[in-house]
Amino acid sequence: MTIAAGSDHAGFAHKSFLKTWLEQQGHNVQDFGSHSADSTDYPDYAHPVAQAVEQGKADLGLLICGTANGMAMAANKHQGIRAALCWNEEVAALARQHNNANVICIPARFTTPEEARSILARFLATGFEGGRHQRRIEKLGC
Ligand code: RB5
Repeated sequence: MTIAAGSDHAGFAHKSFLKTWLEQQGHNVQDFGSHSADSTDYPDYAHPVAQAVEQGKADLGLLICGTANGMAMAANKHQGIRAALCWNEEVAALARQHNNANVICIPARFTTPEEARSILARFLATGFEGGRHQRRIEKLGC
């Protein structure tokens, strides 16, 4: 899969760790930055990642900041984007099964890199259930 990835300074170390892991798994990672731990603004990374998914240039998006709230808020401004804040594996699985989430937002300040990897792995391994959930996501209006 092609995965668009972005982080601010708070998520930079997690993103670097997850990017290496994703590439080891055979995925293509489009890295939209940040490229250092210098203080920066999360919307500058959330919007390009969301646009890549929105335009079909990436299959899924990965966004990481301190809480993941700012990333999810920015990404969900985009048409066709269902960005989900995932802080554990079960939430990540349900975001795919029930919400057909196409962007995962992970909170770097509340997960270890290894926990984030497990959360991301579960997200990638889980599919949308469709059925009643299709009707519900259609009512999101995005
Ligand atoms: C940065 O200090 C922090 O505000 C940011 O990483 C994120 O948590 C925002 O939602």
